[in-house]
Amino acid sequence: MAGRFPSAWLDELRDRTDIVQVVSRHVQLTQRGGRYWGLCPFHGEKTPSFSVNPQKQMYYCFGCHAGGSAITFVMEMEHLEFRDAVIALAEQAHMEVPQLQESRQERLSRTEKDRLYEANRECARFFHAQLWKDENARMLAYLHERGVNDHTIRKFGLGCTPPTSDGATRALTDLGFTAEELVRAGISVQRDGRTYDMFRTRVIFPIIDARGHVLGFGGRALGDAKPKYLNTGDTPVFNKRLGVFAANLLVKQRNLRRIILTEGYMDVIAMTQAGVEGVCATLGTALTQEQARLLKRWAPEVWVSYDGDAAGQHAILRALDIFEDEDLPARVLDFPDGMDPDEYIRSQGKEGISRLRPMDGNIYRMRREAENHEMATQEGRTAYAKACAKWLARVKEPVELENYVQRLMIETGFSREVLLAQIGRTEMIRQEERRTYQREARPLDRTANGEDRGTVAAERQLLRLLADGLAGNQTISAYDFITEEGRELAEQLLAGRQPGAILEAIEDDEKRSRAAEIFQEDSPGDEETDLQIVHDCLEKLHIRRIDMEIAELTQGLDAASAKEKRTALTRIQELSEQRRLMGNRKEG
Ligand code: UTP
Ligand code: MN
Repeated sequence: MAGRFPSAWLDELRDRTDIVQVVSRHVQLTQRGGRYWGLCPFHGEKTPSFSVNPQKQMYYCFGCHAGGSAITFVMEMEHLEFRDAVIALAEQAHMEVPQLQESRQERLSRTEKDRLYEANRECARFFHAQLWKDENARMLAYLHERGVNDHTIRKFGLGCTPPTSDGATRALTDLGFTAEELVRAGISVQRDGRTYDMFRTRVIFPIIDARGHVLGFGGRALGDAKPKYLNTGDTPVFNKRLGVFAANLLVKQRNLRRIILTEGYMDVIAMTQAGVEGVCATLGTALTQEQARLLKRWAPEVWVSYDGDAAGQHAILRALDIFEDEDLPARVLDFPDGMDPDEYIRSQGKEGISRLRPMDGNIYRMRREAENHEMATQEGRTAYAKACAKWLARVKEPVELENYVQRLMIETGFSREVLLAQIGRTEMIRQEERRTYQREARPLDRTANGEDRGTVAAERQLLRLLADGLAGNQTISAYDFITEEGRELAEQLLAGRQPGAILEAIEDDEKRSRAAEIFQEDSPGDEETDLQIVHDCLEKLHIRRIDMEIAELTQGLDAASAKEKRTALTRIQELSEQRRLMGNRKEG
């Protein structure tokens, strides 16, 4: 922060400020004991858990754990920087604000920055006003055609360029800004001694920071003109690598459980308009460490929501690495068919968003890694296990690692201890696992219609959890199901369809009531129990699949030719080995 208040003066301000009075301007407080209580302004609540302690000159919310001093309270409530919050409080305390202790250099650069912010703000106003003029009707029509309504246009302060080549430059010059300032702000460019507008024939997206400063602009060409987006270059107040689009809206949404990070301005706009909170975007560059750090201040978790195309998928992996370095938990919203969030909302409607399930970052990596390997062969699965082990070694928490190891066991057939050894976490290997021994494949126990009972039971448990919309389902895929009926139901539940709607569409009465019986059950457990059930069931199904294949191959042996026999026997051997590696921990 440029400039400091003298510390003795700040102490005096703290003494003369009554936090109860400051908070009372925003929160109705009642005294109880030595404290004052009210409804927390930082999260929605119906019974007061927000307390103010005048002795300690602090506030604390037992609900959302927000806490701080009178100064931080004003900063939070009024979105002010420290300096401005202090000035506001000093005015209320009738204290004269001292000259900031800043160097000449600091003062000059502060005043220059203020001028540029001011120029940008006026420019944004100018662009926004253009949008409602008849002569720019096609600009407004462009936004409307892309589904952006007027309320959203105002919310984001969208605008457009004027029909002339120097309209913005002239309007701002009239307001008293010099040509040099406008060039410094990236609003104007100079050519042949004349000053023109930087943005021409474009729809304008102002980039506004958390404090409400307009930093620069993104300009979208109407048609296929290149470049598609023109952005303000680096200026004394703008650096694309440091900020995010829509930061000003983000900070207003208190108590965010997660931030959704997209790649495009239009993605933020479409999602916000669809009622999704806490959405922002990078500014045309790949995610940076600085941006990750910024997001970390605003929410405990990020959902990466990039385009579903190849480039987007690649960028997701890079973003996950960056969030991992910052210790910010990240999940992935995977859009089908290469769509970006904007296209997805336009084709699937707002409901489509709630249908998407955020996928754990490491599970996403595992899925992507699996695509790079021939998972049908033992060599492929081995290479896959090795590749996963490399980055799973970075998972610090044993409980988290355990989840991934369990998944890897199911996918590759390797035992827990072998995988932990590969990952380099031998300390997590349990004593009893050090002795694995061969175990015969169990004979299948068939139901009346020829299905294996164990399989049906495991599938039912999984379907029940899916119908309950419970966590852990990001590890389940429809391919895990063996019976056709189970797979069909799983597919629909995983696509986010309501259980009721799924039942509605089943024509066969018996089938429908079987599904209804599964769906109606409540899941008994907490998330941990659920995850355990998911894991157990997936493992059971995997073992069943192996057993079924072995049984089938064995049955066919008699009728097989010599050559077929050899192939079958090799395969049986391979499967038995897998079966052995799965360990003897589970009853089949
Ligand atoms: P996209 O090409 O995905 O654009 O670029 P978009 O956001 O989906 O836009 P529409 O829907 O086609 O209008 C994503 C982001 O990359 C930056 C912009 O920040 C854009 O929002 N970008 C893209 C540029 O800076 N310049 C470009 O020429 C293209
Ligand atoms: Mn797009």
